Amino acid sequence: MNSLVSSTSLSQHTIKMLLKSAQAYVDSPQTRPCHGTVVNLFFENSTRTDLSFQMAAQRLGLQTLNFDVSHSSVNKGESLHDTLETLEALGVDIAIIRHKEDWPQQFADSDLNISLVNAGSGIFEHPTQALLDALTMKQHFGSVRGLTVTIVGDIKHSRVARSNYHILTTLGATVQFAGPDEFIAHDLTDVPWVSLDEAIETTDVLMLLRVQHERHEDSDVIQEYHGQYGLTEERLQKLNKDALIMHPGPVNRGVEICDAAMDDPRSRILQQVSNGVAIRMAVLDWCLQGGRRGKLVSA
Ligand code: CP
Repeated sequence: MNSLVSSTSLSQHTIKMLLKSAQAYVDSPQTRPCHGTVVNLFFENSTRTDLSFQMAAQRLGLQTLNFDVSHSSVNKGESLHDTLETLEALGVDIAIIRHKEDWPQQFADSDLNISLVNAGSGIFEHPTQALLDALTMKQHFGSVRGLTVTIVGDIKHSRVARSNYHILTTLGATVQFAGPDEFIAHDLTDVPWVSLDEAIETTDVLMLLRVQHERHEDSDVIQEYHGQYGLTEERLQKLNKDALIMHPGPVNRGVEICDAAMDDPRSRILQQVSNGVAIRMAVLDWCLQGGRRGKLVSA
């Protein structure tokens, strides 16, 4: 059984296999039935990831269990590790976890025998988001190799930026960042930090990140954000005509992106959401491969 905890554990071969498998699900909604039980443990809010994992599991014919954190024994102080051991004892095959903490670090040497899927962990990683982003680029350009992808915004607090950086560079893209100096990530200082207004005319993909009000308190940065780092109507005119506009969602309209850019034919924001179901089908299918006894973190 496989787990997907960090994109850094995925080889180029595995990433390409997952993209190919997802594209097959896009092209043909018919699936061969899978067997297993999946539970979503969402300790943090979500619309896209939570629902698309549920849809993916249902389309694969998997059993899905409801885990409502607010009614669970987490509220009696049960730890995440003990919760996962309990799910393992119940016979759950895959636990899909969203958490405000960087929980995967705690489980690197764990003896848990349940497949774990990271559905967004603190500011650490969001690997299925990066996979669906790569699929969206591949569908338009034919290949990710050779693309220049400019990721704009709150890099420091962005699990999406971290996972995209690993997945896209593994596939041969050039990734660069833009945004306020306050949002430079000190673990990613090797990545070029560019001027948005210079990058906008040449980049192949402009990926705007959500300003995460919940992860920092510097309101001065947010007030000036749209004019300085948002995709304004003026910047939309300058954007390369073949470029893609992407955003993981949820969008702060008028902060990262203007309304006109949401509706622009270059926008792939809703296609990203659609691709999320296929990518998560591919990931769940892959997680179930190899039987119940397996490595916790593997690729
Ligand atoms: N992109 C993303 O993770 O969206 P949700 O928070 O709605 O799942």
